[in-house]
Amino acid sequence: MKTPIPPGVFDILPQTDDTWRSAHLWQYVEEVIRDIARLYGYQEIRTPIFERVELFQRSVGETSDIVSKEIYVFEDKGKRMMSLRPEGTAPVMRAFIENQLVNQGPVHKLFYIGPMFRYDRPQAGRYRQHHQFGAEVIGVSSPEQDAEMIDMVYTLYSRLGIQNLTVYINSIGNQETRKNFRDALQNYLRPHFDQLSKDSQHRFEANPLRILDSKDPNDQAIVAKAPSILDCLDQASKENFERIQACLNALKIPYTIDHRLVRGLDYYNNTVFEIVAGDLGAQNSIGGGGRYDGLLKMLEGPDLPSVGFATGIERIIQTMLKQQVKVPPAYRPQLFIITLGDAAKEFGFKFLHKLRQEGIDAQMDFTGRKLGKVMQYADQIRAKFVIVIGDDELKSQEVELKVMETGETSVISLSSLSHLLNIDAKTKTFMELWPQMSTPFQDAKEAEFFFKKLCQTLDKTTTVTSKLHDSLEAMNQFLKDQG
Ligand code: HAM
Repeated sequence: MKTPIPPGVFDILPQTDDTWRSAHLWQYVEEVIRDIARLYGYQEIRTPIFERVELFQRSVGETSDIVSKEIYVFEDKGKRMMSLRPEGTAPVMRAFIENQLVNQGPVHKLFYIGPMFRYDRPQAGRYRQHHQFGAEVIGVSSPEQDAEMIDMVYTLYSRLGIQNLTVYINSIGNQETRKNFRDALQNYLRPHFDQLSKDSQHRFEANPLRILDSKDPNDQAIVAKAPSILDCLDQASKENFERIQACLNALKIPYTIDHRLVRGLDYYNNTVFEIVAGDLGAQNSIGGGGRYDGLLKMLEGPDLPSVGFATGIERIIQTMLKQQVKVPPAYRPQLFIITLGDAAKEFGFKFLHKLRQEGIDAQMDFTGRKLGKVMQYADQIRAKFVIVIGDDELKSQEVELKVMETGETSVISLSSLSHLLNIDAKTKTFMELWPQMSTPFQDAKEAEFFFKKLCQTLDKTTTVTSKLHDSLEAMNQFLKDQG
């Protein structure tokens, strides 16, 4: 009997068409994430995918949905209660304390990419294993840091071509604010208690602030007139929140203040934010975060302020596909080698190795299928060029280099191949091709190939400079001289 994949999880596959589970899209998004993290000065941290369950109970909070309903818990063989991590902030704090990273300087900017586990009812955009890019800054309490964090995630989405985003921000103040607000909110909700959803009734005592971001339409109608936490902020929190808004205005990052945004994790204070993608459907929160100044101390670490966020990679890719964002194509080999006969096979095998040493991503057929079938396969994997090596080619040491997209061919000596393919891989436009003009050509065939490529790129170039004219003449002269 086949063993199916468990519900709520998925495979990421090496398919070339663009679905949200295509490995090449994940690789692309992760590359952009790493670029952005570097750009903003973050260093990578990797923590285990399981931790002691009490880490999450103490930090995310016993009454949060994540811990009370969704956490994966198991007892290990040493009778310790462990949990697959449902989020990344608490593990990063644990690692920071345990490894005494505090000794490494006053400011710590850390990022992670990895799977998180939440046992929830699976649906589009909600999985039992999802992947997050998260970032945490430890040691800075200034509002500029909160704004820089929002800027980083906003820049990431823009770099990936994602549009139609709304950044919601709010301040939930300090502990004192929340205590006062909690009383005010309960007083407001008490007369409506019977109309609240079952979930919200449960939260009424344990965590009434969470009722504010209930998804239940009935609850939403009731909380629409609830008091605003922003009216309960102390002076310092108010000024802090105003400064964050000024920073976002300065960077021209559009945002909406939502006084009902509280987020589902207990560790936050002051700033909270969430970014919603217009095209995602019900599970439309693409990223979120906030400030959590007391968490490190509460976990018996140093008393340092911290702020962070995380964004779901599944939701990023799904949004990109919904918005038909242009993504780089899947991997395609530059060259596919087909050999005919034993001598050519022997030669081709070594030649393949040599080309790879010289930086060409080449593939070769080892299946021994008929030429037509192998050609078809080369086309299917979208090889850019194909060469066929048989006895004649071995003797002449020249091959026909076929451009698969157009079918056009050029005769090239085998010794020129890696030089030409390297130039081809590096040059997409005429301007990029230009510096190569001074490279001496090994022979006329190499020059001719180059000339053809130059003419093709010229066709696509709209601005023709006078320099180009001179160069073409020089090129012609070169070919004439070569006879
Ligand atoms: P979170 O809002 O619970 O925050 O999760 C962050 C992001 O992970 C969400 O915005 C969403 O894109 C994605 N996500 C969450 N659950 C799922 C799921 N079941 N399926 C698919 N995607 C999901 C945190 O986890 C905090 N640790 C963020 C943070 C870091 N705050 C401060 N530092």
